[in-house]
Amino acid sequence: MNEESDRKVVRGLKDVAAAETRISFVDPKGYLYYLGYNIDDLVGRVTYTEVAYLLIHKRLPNQQELDEFCTDLISEMKLPNAMVKCIWDTPGHVHPMDVLRTEVSRLGEYDIEYKDLSEAANMRRATRLIAQVPTIVATLHRSRMGQPVPAPRKDFGFAENFLYMFEGYPPKEDEADVLHRLLILHADHGFNASTFAARVTASTNADMYSAATSAIGTLRGPLHGGASEKVMEMLNDIGLEKYVDEYIQGLLDEKMKIMGFGHRVYMAEDPRTKHLRGIVENLCHQKRTLDLYNKCIKIEEIVHQRKNIYPNLDFYAAVAMDALGVPKEFFTPFFTSSRIAGWVAHTIEQYEDAVLLRPSSKYVGEFGRTFVPIEER
Ligand code: CMC
Repeated sequence: MNEESDRKVVRGLKDVAAAETRISFVDPKGYLYYLGYNIDDLVGRVTYTEVAYLLIHKRLPNQQELDEFCTDLISEMKLPNAMVKCIWDTPGHVHPMDVLRTEVSRLGEYDIEYKDLSEAANMRRATRLIAQVPTIVATLHRSRMGQPVPAPRKDFGFAENFLYMFEGYPPKEDEADVLHRLLILHADHGFNASTFAARVTASTNADMYSAATSAIGTLRGPLHGGASEKVMEMLNDIGLEKYVDEYIQGLLDEKMKIMGFGHRVYMAEDPRTKHLRGIVENLCHQKRTLDLYNKCIKIEEIVHQRKNIYPNLDFYAAVAMDALGVPKEFFTPFFTSSRIAGWVAHTIEQYEDAVLLRPSSKYVGEFGRTFVPIEER
């Protein structure tokens, strides 16, 4: 016996505070703060670029700082030609998140200042990652359509360029507005699983690309960022609104999770939902697809009534991305294109904290087994 067997296990690390952070606060009562700003005060009033600046610099920029940051981001969006070729050569059946995970890792190979681990170099690296993750996503999407990705335009903002490069044509004003809101709402969220994965990797003093790669692999799972794609599959499977009740009850009877519902931290409605619900309602009005909106509301009502849980970020985000014309396998890559800002901010904060994240475990295996050589087994 040793001390480890007496340890208390906190299953799923629920309610365990693994470190201090100033970046974001997920309030169980249903509020979300980025660097002290309630997201309700940011959505619709700032651009995603301002939020990305806020996360890594820990303060909002003035106009000149914002312009310079936007210029830096746009000039960093271009990928090395060899990477563009790798993306084009990816087999068509590979999930975009798998490609993204590999290509973000590959970005590390092209970091010409890889030996410089100073704070200034990490800040430049953070800017490059925020700029280049959306380009990888756009390049993959265009390549799957057999189309080259257009070069970013200096007369567009950063988020507008992302949509322009993804779709291949300039975004309309209302599409850009939806994109900013979506990106802001996805940018950070406390010590969620992928951010924690990034911080664990950073805590070993590994480089920022390794931290981002760990995070992408973690975000991909359907219990985390992969949920949005599953939400769309469920909405398609349900068909007409009149089948919602039977479909949802069927899943609950089978003890299956309803994708896009439930949350580890929030005891009340996820504060991002009201923004996303509003976006979806507007989009469905414009596109005359109100039956889809009504179907979502019906699902919300039934799941809340039967399980007392609320939609999370992924439920309405899926519908909003679908309305923007994003194919469902690109939903999580879109999420990644924004969450990269949170991950790099947390990676920098973890470097500052300078402590190895290494929990213990409770050993429940055997002791004292008699060793038998291989020829006698
Ligand atoms: N559908 C049905 N029941 C649920 C769901 C759901 N989506 N979520 C939670 N529950 C029930 C669960 O069955 C359990 O009930 P009981 O106590 O009767 O056994 C109770 O609520 C607690 O659930 P849990 O799974 O122990 O809670 P957790 O904190 O471990 O899980 C979660 C949180 C998000 C993984 C879970 O709610 C879930 O699997 N949701 C579906 C996947 C999803 O939408 N993920 C996106 C998460 S938020 C955005 C993001 O980070 O990407």
